[in-house]
Amino acid sequence: MSITKRNFGTFEGQDVDLYTLTNKNGMSVSIMTYGGAMVNILTEDRNGKFADVILGFDDVYGYINDDTYQGALIGRYCNRIHQGKFSIDGVEYQLNVNEENVSNHLHGGHKGYDKRLWNVLYTSDYNEPSISLTLVDEDGMENYPGTVNVNVIYTLTEDNSIKIEYFATTDKPTPINLTNHSYFNLNGYDSGDILNHRAQLYTDKFTPFNENFCPTGEIASVKGTAYDFTSPKAVADAVNDTEDEQIRINLGVDNSFYYGRKGIMKHFATLYAPESGRILDTYSDQTAMQFYCGNYLKGVPGKNGSKLGYRNSICLETQYTPNTPNNDWLPSCIVYPGETYHFTTIYKFSHD
Ligand code: BGC
Repeated sequence: MSITKRNFGTFEGQDVDLYTLTNKNGMSVSIMTYGGAMVNILTEDRNGKFADVILGFDDVYGYINDDTYQGALIGRYCNRIHQGKFSIDGVEYQLNVNEENVSNHLHGGHKGYDKRLWNVLYTSDYNEPSISLTLVDEDGMENYPGTVNVNVIYTLTEDNSIKIEYFATTDKPTPINLTNHSYFNLNGYDSGDILNHRAQLYTDKFTPFNENFCPTGEIASVKGTAYDFTSPKAVADAVNDTEDEQIRINLGVDNSFYYGRKGIMKHFATLYAPESGRILDTYSDQTAMQFYCGNYLKGVPGKNGSKLGYRNSICLETQYTPNTPNNDWLPSCIVYPGETYHFTTIYKFSHD
């Protein structure tokens, strides 16, 4: 096990550091202080060959200029809040709106957690290497109420899992919804589209969206729809289902799947790449997951001359269902002073 640190550039005059955690099997994950983002994940394929299985850039400047949230921690509220409006105990709030075409607050606004520098509270290479990051999200940032203290701990375990623990406290009632926005390609970041990846999602429920890309209010069955991943299915079979209106609108799958049972660890998803044999299992005690197949990537240059291309990656964003503050039929995302927001997500890598 080891942890190394190197400079990854500067942001607003401050050094950005890149930490690489390596476990006893040789698997590694690199995390930078800008955006608390995962920058590289090196895992073995069925022939023992290591490859980097997330998209991204060679230095921090790529991430600073990026608007696709590569690898980043997302907050204070990931995903959408319609018109940026909500109320808590009768008090109305208006967040900044940054998804202009549909008037939503998206992924924390103009300067979400992905665009801020995180502090390193500690690193530990005892047994399973970990890094603990903190962020003070001041009262009024992006118009959110209350100062929120965030702590995210990444641990690389002996069984080749990346465990992400999210903690947050607040001094005023506020919505909190944190996730990681890594774009996975299990054949390697530079190996083309993910249409052949097979996905299995361990839920038969999803929340269809309305014209604002927010849930209609229905928890629908996936049966008979393009969103039925209850058995392993090639991503191509879903994203090419142009009969489905939501697939057509979003150029592919970009939907929230519903798991419920807040606070209980559940198996969310298995992703498998037949070419390399790599497998990614996702577990979480959250209630929903945005399954997004890179439909809006436009081919900008990424790592090592590669391109961040249309449909060449998949995001598995564990979180509350979008627009939770305006949907009281969903588990509440409001955190009050004295409470601690706490969720855990595990990305476990293996191969066939
Ligand atoms: C959303 C997409 C959005 C993307 C931004 C995803 O979490 O589901 O709709 O375009 O983030 O890069």
